[in-house]
Amino acid sequence: MNVKAIAAAAVMSIAASGALAQAKPETLVKQRQAAMTLQSKYFGPMRMMGLGKMPYDAAVVARNAPMLDALARMPWDGFTANTKDIKTGALPAVYSDVAKFKEAEDRFMAETAKLVSISKSGDEAAIKAQIVAIDKSCSGCHETYRERQ
Ligand code: HEC
Repeated sequence: MNVKAIAAAAVMSIAASGALAQAKPETLVKQRQAAMTLQSKYFGPMRMMGLGKMPYDAAVVARNAPMLDALARMPWDGFTANTKDIKTGALPAVYSDVAKFKEAEDRFMAETAKLVSISKSGDEAAIKAQIVAIDKSCSGCHETYRERQ
């Protein structure tokens, strides 16, 4: 590599490693809220099916369960300590109870992953039960960590 190529490579690796660390707190808040909003979008119809308020549609579950599972991994790196002073729906416990909040994230991600695997079984009752388990995971976390709406 010549000097220019080495310099370019160095700049690129700095840019890559700094992608998260450098993001502005306001941007992180916007992104984590966007991920939550999209979770709602893809979970919403499945939730209605789980609660028996909408006819069960296996095709929608097959499409939405993996989307939700991917989205379920996205919000958490946006709850950094430097976002604490921005007025959002996140309660102070998010920042003071970091280990407990992480447990709630992990439990939730385990539930969405489980839905993906159960959805392949075609067992409607088991799938609906898992959707209800996810719903409890959303509201359980919101109860402790999100301002009442
Ligand atoms: C581990 C905790 C946790 C879990 C699990 C969780 N949320 Fe949230 N959610 C939060 C917090 C904290 C906020 C407030 C974030 C903020 O305002 O920056 C939030 C905010 C939201 C918002 C508002 C976003 C906005 O634009 O202000 C929606 C919608 C939402 N969650 C939907 C969901 C759905 C649907 C699920 C389950 C499929 C879910 N959440 C699971 C913690 C969680």
